[in-house]
Amino acid sequence: MAEHNDSPHPTAIRTMFAGVARRYDLLNHLLSGGLDRRWRRRAADAVACSSRDRKVAGTYEGRCDACAPIEHPPPLPRRARTAPRLVIDVCTGTGDLAMTVLRQWPRCRVVACDFCRPMVARAREKVCRAGLGPRAAVVEADALALPLADAVADAACCAFGVRNLADEAAGLSEMVRVVRPGGRVVALEFHRPRGRGPLAALFGLYFRRILPRLGGWISGGRHGGYAYLVRSIEAFGPPERLARAMQQAGLRDVTVEPLPGGIASLYVGTRG
Ligand SMILES: C[S@@+](CC[C@H](N)C(=O)[O-])C[C@H]1O[C@@H](n2cnc3c(N)ncnc32)[C@H](O)[C@@H]1O
Repeated sequence: MAEHNDSPHPTAIRTMFAGVARRYDLLNHLLSGGLDRRWRRRAADAVACSSRDRKVAGTYEGRCDACAPIEHPPPLPRRARTAPRLVIDVCTGTGDLAMTVLRQWPRCRVVACDFCRPMVARAREKVCRAGLGPRAAVVEADALALPLADAVADAACCAFGVRNLADEAAGLSEMVRVVRPGGRVVALEFHRPRGRGPLAALFGLYFRRILPRLGGWISGGRHGGYAYLVRSIEAFGPPERLARAMQQAGLRDVTVEPLPGGIASLYVGTRG
């Protein structure tokens, strides 16, 4: 966990995201080459737990944190899974993951939370414009103290938010707390570009030198948000670190799936 303790103060985070809220979506799509949409669809798919988990809810297998393998999950066929009825999207930003969940699971309701008011306003506007309002509540709330009762949801998800939390362990514990036993906690997060060879070197150059400038330029350059993006990803550590943190938060069967692009992974765990 030591690698992740240099997060800026929550007020600085809030101010930074308020500064980029207006252009956040455009920048996201541009800077990821449109891959972020694919990643979110994959995350929205993962919020459904397996039917088996519904039956064995509460029977935590107590695997050793240090030696539990981090697996690459075989996708479950849809019929073997239970559609979620309530999902909490933490650090929702402009609401893209929340909306992807609502579209992918037509009977599901979503509570989407963020502590940055301009982001919440954007998310509300988008959810309503898309006609998804009746199934969504977009609330201004801190991920470290969610205004929700224990075990109310079938899943909690978070896209590119865990890295920004002032207290990662507390944020993961909150996600686990609001999910029922057998339910899922799903996180999408960036990591350092992986791989070797000229292509990886080229991407490394883009990531460290070009992306912060491009992001700063498009967003007006006042808030240093995209330099922070690169710094925070560098400091975040390898995917295995977050997987272990999820196990320590009480999740079992934690899996890490590398996503196309080599810079983001999908993390899925089941509440014991
Ligand atoms: C990189 S954005 C991700 C937004 C969105 N989930 C997405 O997929 O694009 C991170 C978001 O986390 C929010 N955030 C950071 N710390 C938070 C906290 N403690 N509570 C609530 N939101 C937080 C920020 O306001 C910001 O909107």
